[in-house]
Amino acid sequence: MNKIKLETILPYWSMLLLLFLTYSAIEIPLALVFDYDLKSLFFINIFVNLVFFFDLGISILKSKQSKKKDDFTKYLKSWFIIDLLSAVPFEILLEFDYINDNYEFLKLLRIVRLIRIFKIFHISKQLNRNEFQGQGQRRILTLMYISSLGAHWIALMWTVLNEIPEGETQVSTYINSLYWTLTTLTTIGYGDITPKTDLQKIYTMVIMIVGAGMYGYIIGNIANLLANIDYARTVFTEKMERINTFLKYRNLPASLQENIYQYYTYVWENKKGYDESEIMNELPASLRMKISLYLNAGIFEKIPLFAGASDSMIADFVIRLKPVIFTPKDYIIKKGERGDCLYFISSGKVEVVNDETGDNIATLGVGAYFGEIALVDSTPRSATIRAIDYCDLYSLEKASFDEVIKDYPEFYQKIKEMARARVEENKKRELDKHK
Ligand code: CMP
Repeated sequence: MNKIKLETILPYWSMLLLLFLTYSAIEIPLALVFDYDLKSLFFINIFVNLVFFFDLGISILKSKQSKKKDDFTKYLKSWFIIDLLSAVPFEILLEFDYINDNYEFLKLLRIVRLIRIFKIFHISKQLNRNEFQGQGQRRILTLMYISSLGAHWIALMWTVLNEIPEGETQVSTYINSLYWTLTTLTTIGYGDITPKTDLQKIYTMVIMIVGAGMYGYIIGNIANLLANIDYARTVFTEKMERINTFLKYRNLPASLQENIYQYYTYVWENKKGYDESEIMNELPASLRMKISLYLNAGIFEKIPLFAGASDSMIADFVIRLKPVIFTPKDYIIKKGERGDCLYFISSGKVEVVNDETGDNIATLGVGAYFGEIALVDSTPRSATIRAIDYCDLYSLEKASFDEVIKDYPEFYQKIKEMARARVEENKKRELDKHK
């Protein structure tokens, strides 16, 4: 079995193991308290043993294949003995007559398999892809699972502490005990089944304390889980509350307030309120590069300027881009200003306008870029650019542009030619106007 294969089957195996662990955790203590013939469960118990036996093999393999060198010795020193003992098919001994004298001892021996229940925490982690995914749900599910098993064990202990009335069936006894357990654990305590002896009273008090703690813990976790179900929305709503307060407090004009609301609605609908650059800044450069390449590869495909560009060149650009949003009618560039960056359009449209007349010189859409003339010629901005609708742009600062352009002279040449052509076009337009 190679490493990949083992990793792919592990989650399924963990689920199967969980099922049989649960069965053992229910059946083994049940057999200690109630009187039934273990032989009737012979085949299922042997099957459970087989599963545990295979798990022993898998655990050995896993620890041997582990990247950490001492995992195998650690396993041998810790879980190995428990795993080995729980794989021993004690039930086979039932086939031998002499064991009937030691029947109770055999039942006790099986308890060793119960220790395996502590593996449940490990298994619940393994079923998830990583430690932080669905942490809340996992905690609640594990807690519910443990408390259900716990209720079963507490009920069995209560049965041991009680005298079973004559004529009561074993099933009724168990149901009564479980009923007492649940009313006590959930702190409801109807009081129809009450402790009589000192021992019973002490036991009840302990269970009451456990119950109250557990109850608080579960409620706390559920509240936390609910608050986190749509974390993005919660955070965004909080942010909007703050903005609302600010707008009211500063008494901004209604139209400006409307603009602000529209902007946030756009941010929510398109980016779920996440500030991309904030998340990206936290990541190491290699991951940032992979994400940027994945997210922006599309826009570079649409830019004719990058047609035939090598992957490394695209990567050099991508890593330096910063996302910016503009709302309709926003001025992105104003004629005559100092030019400090180049823009690529990821979504939306912008118009190049003549400042004096307000005429539309050109409309640029997805895949187009602008702001290159000022960078290439080191001149003030040659035209004004205004957003027509919501625009997702990527900006490249002058310093980054200069840095990256050094390595790609051909690209620089192309962008220079494009700048020339645009300047010429504008000059021609001016001349035509004055004719
Ligand atoms: P820059 O001068 O830095 O700032 C204004 C930008 O408008 C300019 O760079 C060009 O990118 C863009 N621009 C100017 N004229 C035209 C045009 N005729 N067609 C398209 N874009 C233009």
